[in-house]
Amino acid sequence: KKFLLMNGPNLNLLGVREPDVYGTVTLADIEREVCAYAAERGAEVDCFQSNHEGELIDRLHAARGVYDGIVYNPGAHTHYSYALRDAVSSIDVPTVEVHLSDISAREEFRRVSVIAPVCVAQIKGKGKEGYKEAIDVLLAR
Ligand code: DQA
Repeated sequence: KKFLLMNGPNLNLLGVREPDVYGTVTLADIEREVCAYAAERGAEVDCFQSNHEGELIDRLHAARGVYDGIVYNPGAHTHYSYALRDAVSSIDVPTVEVHLSDISAREEFRRVSVIAPVCVAQIKGKGKEGYKEAIDVLLAR
């Protein structure tokens, strides 16, 4: 199986960004760990991060017929990007939404995800372990 690990805006700054909320782990650490975790289970992972909505949409479109699943942390796009929601629902590739923090226990505006309804699962508040759990969800399908 082949999966895409995709991270949206500001997640390139993990490790230096609000460490009290997101911890000190970097995106490179997460990508390395998730790739290793998947490899141990016979799966391959490609990684992509962008701060640009259009680039993320293009990457989702390009995922059609290429990946068996997508692990996606949409960052703040989670809360308002109908364009990314439509992209996920347009491609017919099972997608798991992941958040490092517990978005239900923070500011009011983070409680809503416009993307989760078109995903097969949402995992939140488990830090980097959440990304591995998402791989498990996809492998179990
Ligand atoms: C986040 C939560 C979002 O609300 C926030 O905008 C992020 C990170 C998380 O992983 O906890 O950028 O997706």
